Amino acid sequence: MSDLSQKAPEDRPSQARLSLLGDIQRVLIDETSLNARVKELGRIISTEYAGKDLLLIAVLKGSFIFMADLVRHIEIPHEVDFMAISSYGSSTKSSGAVQIVMDLRRPLEGRHVLLVEDIIDSGNTLHYLHRIMLERMPASLRIMTLLDKPDRREVEMKVDWVGFSIPNEFVVGYGLDYNQYYRNLPYIGILRPSVYSHELAE
Ligand code: IMP
Ligand code: MG
Repeated sequence: MSDLSQKAPEDRPSQARLSLLGDIQRVLIDETSLNARVKELGRIISTEYAGKDLLLIAVLKGSFIFMADLVRHIEIPHEVDFMAISSYGSSTKSSGAVQIVMDLRRPLEGRHVLLVEDIIDSGNTLHYLHRIMLERMPASLRIMTLLDKPDRREVEMKVDWVGFSIPNEFVVGYGLDYNQYYRNLPYIGILRPSVYSHELAE
């Protein structure tokens, strides 16, 4: 994930080209479908974790909207926490080199942990996170992701719950970004490849 704040000003997209809607080729998952699925996932969590000491951990920044909507459909007591990581690579492809930028405040030992992800692509990010979380000895560790691109997997990962399996396209919206933009779109949209084609040529 590249960070615009680390780039020289001339590399930033001009305000004029940030016509978000024109950059979307097609809506892949609309707001109604997102809401319905997130509600179902909330119900699943409420059933699966009834009576357990549940801790939901969202990985920033991409999962922030999913997490916020999800918890409002969970009907059992639970705690939320956040981790921020940075993964190296281009804006459209992670390399697998991941670094924790903001860690959890409290230990995971003995807790029932559910990791909440925005999207699993190569699986590299999740593979890394899963390993370091297991070292912290949670009572259980499971994974829920809103989106999954199974065709892109480089590392095999067991994912417990997937919101939507999607084709191999670069998507934005509902928390997901390209170069930090488009997170505010209320749907999941396919980004027009011309927006990032300069990266593909590199
Ligand atoms: P992975 O390590 O390749 O599985 O990539 C996971 C991370 O890459 C996600 O948490 C996203 O930040 C980012 N990512 C992967 N695919 C997309 C996409 O289609 N749109 C936006 N971000 C993506
Ligand atoms: Mg991202």
